[in-house]
Amino acid sequence: MSGGGIAAAGGKKGRIRSVLVCYASRYGSTREIAGWIADELQGAGVITDCLPAGKEIRPGAYDAAVIGSALYMGKWLAEARELVSRERVPLGRMPVAVFSVGYSLKERTRASLQAGEAALSDIRLYISPLDAAFFPGKVDLERMGPADRAILSLAGIPGGDFCDADLVRAWARTLPSLLGLIQGGE
Ligand SMILES: Cc1cc2nc3c(=O)[nH]c(=O)nc-3n(C[C@H](O)[C@H](O)[C@H](O)COP(=O)(O)O)c2cc1C
Repeated sequence: MSGGGIAAAGGKKGRIRSVLVCYASRYGSTREIAGWIADELQGAGVITDCLPAGKEIRPGAYDAAVIGSALYMGKWLAEARELVSRERVPLGRMPVAVFSVGYSLKERTRASLQAGEAALSDIRLYISPLDAAFFPGKVDLERMGPADRAILSLAGIPGGDFCDADLVRAWARTLPSLLGLIQGGE
């Protein structure tokens, strides 16, 4: 998934482009979705690192970034919001696409996609992504902590795996062109 990494790309000046796929995930479904995205990018010949959002992440070392988070209480997870805020200067100079993962996004209705878009308002304060995707996620009640399980139970949300690999992979295949990662473009 993380291939030869940025070092193998020969830095930003090499002909082979590099992309950071960075995600925030509490129970693993967003990590899995990020892995599918990274897999497609690698398959397209792009040097790809797939890493969890955290303080040590430096997007400026890459040619482009794909950043995503699970939705919790209508927001991206804190580590993804912090990454975008902290790294807004390098992210503002490079092509960026974002994705959100949530239970409600299984509906694909105007209301659910609007809720997904509302969660991005915190992100759009800092960056202007070229595209924003919304993917259904997974509610794994058995793996959840008691507080999260209680919130879902109060909201009447049942468990289920709604992840759609075809939807994610189809979007990921648009990214090399969208993000200017096609080889030989220099
Ligand atoms: C406490 C809690 C709050 C959630 N809030 C939202 C939400 O606001 N919108 C949504 O679409 N999904 C929401 N979800 C569902 C998660 O986004 C979904 O399960 C997602 O796939 C989890 O990703 P992860 O496995 O990467 O942590 C919530 C889940 C929990 C447990």
